[in-house]
Amino acid sequence: LLYFAASSAGEVGSAVYEKDGLLVIAPDDSGRQRVVAIGEYRAVLARYADLEPALLISHFPGRIIAPGFVDMHLHYPQLDVIGSPAEGLLPWLENYTFPHETRFSSPEYNAQAAEFFLGELLRNGVTTALAFASSHVASVDALLGQAQQRGMRVIAGKVLMDQNAPDGVRDQTEQSLRDSEALIARWHGVDRLGYAITPRFVPTSSAAQLAGAGELASRYPDVWIQSHVAENLDEVAWVRSLYPKARSYLDVYRQFGLLRPRAVYAHCIHLDSQDRDLMRQTGAAAAVCPTSNLFLGSGFFDFQAADQAGFLYGLASDVGGGTSFSPFHTMLAAYYVGREGQTKPGLSLKPAVLWWQHSAGAARALGLAGVVGNLLPGCEADFIVLNPCATPLLARKTTQAVSLDELLFSMIVLGDDRLVEATYIAGVPIRLNADSPPFQQE
Ligand code: GUN
Ligand code: FE
Repeated sequence: LLYFAASSAGEVGSAVYEKDGLLVIAPDDSGRQRVVAIGEYRAVLARYADLEPALLISHFPGRIIAPGFVDMHLHYPQLDVIGSPAEGLLPWLENYTFPHETRFSSPEYNAQAAEFFLGELLRNGVTTALAFASSHVASVDALLGQAQQRGMRVIAGKVLMDQNAPDGVRDQTEQSLRDSEALIARWHGVDRLGYAITPRFVPTSSAAQLAGAGELASRYPDVWIQSHVAENLDEVAWVRSLYPKARSYLDVYRQFGLLRPRAVYAHCIHLDSQDRDLMRQTGAAAAVCPTSNLFLGSGFFDFQAADQAGFLYGLASDVGGGTSFSPFHTMLAAYYVGREGQTKPGLSLKPAVLWWQHSAGAARALGLAGVVGNLLPGCEADFIVLNPCATPLLARKTTQAVSLDELLFSMIVLGDDRLVEATYIAGVPIRLNADSPPFQQE
């Protein structure tokens, strides 16, 4: 078993590894499966001695049960945009992303794309995601509708983009806000789903659309907000030319009422110390997207400056700017970024910290601490079963690992979707690796 001890605000939860562990889950009053107990096998079982004959035990010899990963930022309509070559963010958006996203107006196209997208999340052990849909209502309905069928905790929103965007993805100011509000009513808080008000980024929304988004955000305080900020220097310069009087790019979002708890800003690379303080003061969170930032040449998230300022952040794939759905690839890229571009270069992020940033830490940044991303009692029973011997090289490395750091690093550096043998959503095995031998049931 792998999970994180409870931590106070601002602290990273320390990783706990129980070689012979037991996870007990049971439905709550509303029927949702939650963790009831976790710990050393005998110690936990002793508390259930009376019930023992009634307990159904799944036995995972040689495997590691861990919390499902939390992906704080990715784009559902970009699964086929991964790996598209471009000089940088703006040409990449214009040449690949916007043309591709036009396809998501079609319900038929969405039906198969949403199935594939959610399948990739599950195959990679991601059980909670905050995702951009496209600017089409149909894309949100498809993604959240299918997430609901699978019982997944997915938060998504219709992209708002009423300017500087081509026909086919550009929306209309008033209609886009009415559509967003209707989608909140349709999806937010239904089963495990959530809605996020989703202005794409400052350049593609008029002031009226940003103001309308901020107004919605104040009327629906438990609805999420998601956008992009300070990813790329050309983008930052563009925003400066659009809002020459604003103190910074981030400050434009503040002016429109778009910084608050449950507001998640992807990238946050080219921020200054006042911006970082603003993040902390408003309770907004950053989604750190290292594979995307390395692929598009955007820059390096400054982990040290973020920790010093004390704002919330977590890891994210940013598919399709990002290059992989795999949390292992994202954690490794975050490690590389820690080596570069820091206030003080050569940061060596600890493997348990990277793991936390993609699970319990990301959940906390989303305002879902104690709900997902961990396996402490009370958490929803979203977990993954990892096979640390999934590949020949992994098997060699992990069986030689002496410390927990060594074990986690072996998986972060060598791991991918093959490590994820099963993904459980609310206690139900939703995706099993067909290549793995069947589990023994005791
Ligand atoms: N900024 C505005 N839109 C996007 C997008 O789709 N991906 C990334 N990485 N940055 C953006
Ligand atoms: Fe993005």
